[in-house]
Amino acid sequence: MKNAYISGTGGYVPPQVVTNQDLVDVYGIDTDDEWIQKRTGIKARRFAPEGIGPSDLALEAAKAALESAGLQATDIGMILFATLSPEHAFPGSGVLLAEKLGLCDGKATFVGAMDIRNQCSGFLYGLGTATSMVKSGACNHVLVVGAEVHSAALDLSTEGRAVASLFGDGAGAVIVSATDEDRGVRYWKCGADGRFADVLCQKVWDTRKRPFMDVGEDGYARVAPEMIWAQMDGRQVFRHAVERMCLGLMEACAATDILGDDIDLFLFHQANMRINQYIAKQMAIPEEKLVHNIDRYGNTTAATIPLLMAEAERDGRLKPGMKVACIAFGSGFTWGTAILDW
Ligand code: UT7
Repeated sequence: MKNAYISGTGGYVPPQVVTNQDLVDVYGIDTDDEWIQKRTGIKARRFAPEGIGPSDLALEAAKAALESAGLQATDIGMILFATLSPEHAFPGSGVLLAEKLGLCDGKATFVGAMDIRNQCSGFLYGLGTATSMVKSGACNHVLVVGAEVHSAALDLSTEGRAVASLFGDGAGAVIVSATDEDRGVRYWKCGADGRFADVLCQKVWDTRKRPFMDVGEDGYARVAPEMIWAQMDGRQVFRHAVERMCLGLMEACAATDILGDDIDLFLFHQANMRINQYIAKQMAIPEEKLVHNIDRYGNTTAATIPLLMAEAERDGRLKPGMKVACIAFGSGFTWGTAILDW
């Protein structure tokens, strides 16, 4: 059986930097830089301009990942697109990306494009799925993307500050490829606990209702504020995140018969610097084995880990031969872990 390894990485963030102070000055939110930095570690985030969706950001990240793998888009056997902010209810962002990559024209391959709806853990769900597809021989190269345009759906007012100050836009992509070399994804595991589905959610509509939104006589739908904007019990998410991420790491080490000390680099989901520092402390992980981007980008949800991979590779922090641990937790609750020999 072939091994599945990451042959290329790419990241893209839109150019507009929104600092914590910009949330006050530009959007008029009653918040301050000190509060946000102290509680989350976030200094700034990026916002995409109107007219740009997650598949546009994903396109840039995918092109960079293909280039770093030395591949053409037509070499891809499957697209897995993780996002919680797809352009539309349907179809998914994966098909939009396939078309933008030129996979639906004359010389097209018309490969499959699947959307993954697992929020902050979406990328690791995708990495696990891609690994299985490559190992089974179904595909030689799978494009896994995490991309988000959060800025379109943030309540950028004082009422929404508890959520709006946390999230930013961005995309990360990797190519998962087959190899005969003794390297690649050694372990992956995903988990879910739907008892906490309401703790972090954005409902927008409810298909149990008839019709699924309140439609007025004028034909326009009315959506209540608590349905439009993401709802989060931050403290509960924080508590569960710390517990699940520590447990996931311990399970991964036990399953692969390694010690925490054997891991060269930890790529944690970037929801809150305090969550990651707490886990690092609990697991005795030295700071030099961690990489972050939450300070610059905020929480980019499905994009956090592939963006970290692309940046760490570019900066020389992530090199062939390194043992890497990835872990994410978020809405659902869902979580994922992976151990790779890079
Ligand atoms: O990737 C998705 C997973 N998400 C997470 O992992 C998030 C996990 N949770 C967290 O990171 C933290 O719970 C938060 C950073 C979201 C919040 O920190 P906290 O220490 O739990 O604060 P809190 O929500 O309990 O709010 C404390 C106070 C409140 O005021 P009162 O009620 O005490 O008067 C909030 O209204 O801070 C207020 N507050 C703010 N103040 C200034 C909330 N957001 C802001 C803000 N600026 N942006």
